[in-house]
Amino acid sequence: MAAEREGWRAPNAAASGASAPGPAAAIEFRNVGLALGGRPILDDVSFTIGPGEFGCIIGASGSGKTTILRVAGGFLPPAGGTVQVGGKPVRGPSRDVAIVFQDYGRALLPWRDAYGNVSLALEAAGVPRRARRQRIESLLAAVGLKDHVRKFPAQLSGGMQQRLQIARCLAQEPRFLLMDEPFGALDALTRQALQDEILRLAAGRGMTVLFVTHDLEEALYLGDRVIALETDPGRVGRIVEVALPRPRDQLTTREHPEFLRLRRELFVLMRQHAG
Ligand SMILES: Nc1ncnc2c1ncn2[C@@H]1O[C@H](COP(=O)(O)OP(=O)(O)OP(=O)(O)O)[C@@H](O)[C@H]1O
Ligand SMILES: [Mg+2]
Repeated sequence: MAAEREGWRAPNAAASGASAPGPAAAIEFRNVGLALGGRPILDDVSFTIGPGEFGCIIGASGSGKTTILRVAGGFLPPAGGTVQVGGKPVRGPSRDVAIVFQDYGRALLPWRDAYGNVSLALEAAGVPRRARRQRIESLLAAVGLKDHVRKFPAQLSGGMQQRLQIARCLAQEPRFLLMDEPFGALDALTRQALQDEILRLAAGRGMTVLFVTHDLEEALYLGDRVIALETDPGRVGRIVEVALPRPRDQLTTREHPEFLRLRRELFVLMRQHAG
């Protein structure tokens, strides 16, 4: 698996006309630059996430993490460089790409119950009512909300609301999942449960994930690859491959010598940069 990932490079995927899922189905930033309000925000950002890989971005506040997700999601065009998702240049938002935001409260419709919120993505895709029911129920079960189908967002805990947002994104059946500090506001135990859930769901569906966090340990726990940003302007400081066995485990993975080694390496890097 690691060897396959190492071997993945698809700079000419678009040129060769590749549009089907396969080796080209991943995320590539190449020499991306961006300025906002006359200020450079991203400088020469390059990285690749292989198909089915879990990529994490870490960096201090203001280093451009959310900006990178907005560019990958097609919401913000880069001023320079190229961005490809699934082997095709990003030209705008795509149904293949789903985004999970940190602020789950605002991402859900308060007047729709859990069922109705997940249904939204299927309605948008034109899935007939009868086909929707079974898919919605199995998605809500997959994120542990089987018993809360008729509850409204305000009746759900933060962790449940975030599960609901994830279910809604999965209903879209995206090949690419972009997540912006999705577990930042949750308590430690809920956060760990959702980390494991997202790993299971992503692996089960073969999704490529780009996950933003400022929690170094979370990035190492989840990722196949961690991209550490430096700030002002945002640029890639280091990219580390995380060769830790899967499935990951909250106890043994976090005690693994390689986990501790990488944590130290990235911690020193981030501290140097902060200082
Ligand atoms: N619309 C905008 N206009 C001008 N500057 C912006 C705009 N959006 C973001 N910025 C600036 O771009 C930089 C990167 O912002 P971004 O939101 O990507 O950082 P971040 O790494 O996600 O930070 P945080 O960890 O706080 O979420 C910041 O300095 C921010 O002030
Ligand atoms: Mg951000």
